Amino acid sequence: MEGYRLTEPRYEAMNYRRCGRSGLLLPEISLGFWHNFGEAADPDRCREIVETAFDSGITYFDLANNYGPPYGSAETMFGWIYNRSLKPHRDEILVATKAGHDMWPGPYGEWGSRKNLMASLDQSLKRMQLDYVDIFYSHRPDPQTPLEETMQALVDIVRQGKALYVGISKYPPEMAARAYAYLREAHVPCLVYQGRYNMLERTHEDEILPQAAAEGVGYVAFSPLAQGLLTDRYLNGIPEDSRMRHSNFLNESVLTPELLTQLRAWNDEARAEGFTLAQYALRWILHRPEVTSVIIGASSVKQLQDNLKAIR
Ligand SMILES: NC(=O)c1ccc[n+]([C@@H]2O[C@H](COP(=O)([O-])OP(=O)(O)OC[C@H]3O[C@@H](n4cnc5c(N)ncnc54)[C@H](OP(=O)(O)O)[C@@H]3O)[C@@H](O)[C@H]2O)c1
Repeated sequence: MEGYRLTEPRYEAMNYRRCGRSGLLLPEISLGFWHNFGEAADPDRCREIVETAFDSGITYFDLANNYGPPYGSAETMFGWIYNRSLKPHRDEILVATKAGHDMWPGPYGEWGSRKNLMASLDQSLKRMQLDYVDIFYSHRPDPQTPLEETMQALVDIVRQGKALYVGISKYPPEMAARAYAYLREAHVPCLVYQGRYNMLERTHEDEILPQAAAEGVGYVAFSPLAQGLLTDRYLNGIPEDSRMRHSNFLNESVLTPELLTQLRAWNDEARAEGFTLAQYALRWILHRPEVTSVIIGASSVKQLQDNLKAIR
C-alpha cells in the first residue's frame, strides 16, 4: 500500500487475551475512535495513528455510529483509512461498531428498537466500506424497549452475516444477566461487555466484572485513562489542545485540588516504578484477570506509543 510501512513482526509486541469463553483473542490494548477521528481531524495524522496501532499488534478498532463530530464521521474516516492501509489485512483485524445513542432525527434514530439497530448497522457498514463488522454492540440499555426485541435484533444481525459477534455496553447487572441468558439461549452468546473502568471509576468491580467472568463474557474497559486525567496531561494546567478545552465530555470542573493531589501522588508512584502515569493506569486495569482489553484513545502517535509501553 502506498505510504504504508508494513512492520513485521507486528504481533510479538502485543499480548492477546481470550475474550470470555469464546474463540476470539483481543489485544490487551485496543484503539477507540470516539474522539480525534472526526471531520476536523487531519486524515493523514489519523492514518498514521491507525497504522502505528496495527503495526504494534493492535487488532481491535472500536467505533460507534455517532462518533465524530459530526455523527458518523469517525466511521467515514475509518473507511478512508481502511481502503488505504488495512484492506489487505481485513482478516487480521477486528472492527466493532455500536448503535443505541442519539444518531438521527425522529423516533427511530436512537435506543434499542429493532428498527434502530438494523438501520444503523446498515449505515455504519456503508460509511466504513465494510461487508460486516466483527463485533456489534447495543450501545446502552433502553428502559422502554423490551430487552427481548433488542437481543433478537442482535441475534438476527449475526444470522444475516452483518456481524460475527455481539456485545452490550453500560447495561446494569440485572439487565446484563437477562441479555446473557437470552443470547445464550439463541446460540449467539454475548462475546463482550464494554464498560467504563479505570483508577477513578471502580463501580464495575462490585458486580459487572465478576458477573461477566462467571457468564463467560469478556470485559473491555473504555476510557481507561479517564479521558486523559490519568496521564500527565493536566498535572500542570490545562493545555490548549486538550480534550478538556475542546470537548463537552470532559469538564474543567472535575479538576479539583483534591483530584490533582491524587493524580500527582499516582504520578510519583508511577515514576518510582519507571512508568508514566498513563502506563501505570493501564497496567492497573490489565492486572485484573476479568479484563480482556483496554480501549484507549489517542490524539497523537506519541501518546499511542507511550501507552503501548504499558505492556513490557
Ligand atoms: N461504550 C461506550 O459508551 C463508550 C464511551 C466512551 C468511550 N468508549 C470507547 O473507548 C474509547 C476510549 O475512550 P477515551 O478516548 O475516553 O479513552 P482514554 O484513553 O481514557 O482517553 C483518551 C485521551 O487521553 C489523552 N491521552 C491518551 N494517552 C495519553 C498519553 N500517553 N499522554 C497524555 N495524554 C494522553 C488524549 O487526550 P487529548 O485529546 O487531550 O490529547 C486522548 O484523547 C473510545 O474511543 C470509544 O471507542 C466507549
